[in-house]
Amino acid sequence: MKKIIAAASFAAVLLASCTPKASTATTPVASTSTAEEIAQGKTIFENSCGRCHKLPDPTSHTSVQWVGIMNRMAPKAKLSDEQHQWVYDYIVSVKK
Ligand code: HEC
Repeated sequence: MKKIIAAASFAAVLLASCTPKASTATTPVASTSTAEEIAQGKTIFENSCGRCHKLPDPTSHTSVQWVGIMNRMAPKAKLSDEQHQWVYDYIVSVKK
């Protein structure tokens, strides 16, 4: 019986300590990268995308075209999925 009470009060403490976090988690999280990730994307872009050809101009293609180009070029540049996303977000951020 003691065990059950202990477990129950432990659960209550857990619930209580989780509540404030749960409420802050409801604030909308932007799906795009943070400023730091975009800055990383810029660095990766400058270091990886000018190796085989001239560094491309982000404004030379639409953001839709860049999706396809990045799908072709990210494996060539050996980018991780995250790096792929950051470079893409950097390119799109330049165009705005
Ligand atoms: C391993 C070599 C290599 C790397 C690294 C590389 N590319 Fe390319 N890229 C190519 C080749 C080869 C072509 C031409 C053939 C093609 O379009 O697939 C090309 C073509 C392009 C084009 C022209 C596509 C078009 O449709 O006009 C763009 C833009 C481009 N690359 C962007 C990038 C970006 C951005 C990166 C970095 C993520 C990158 N490339 C990294 C080899 C590379």
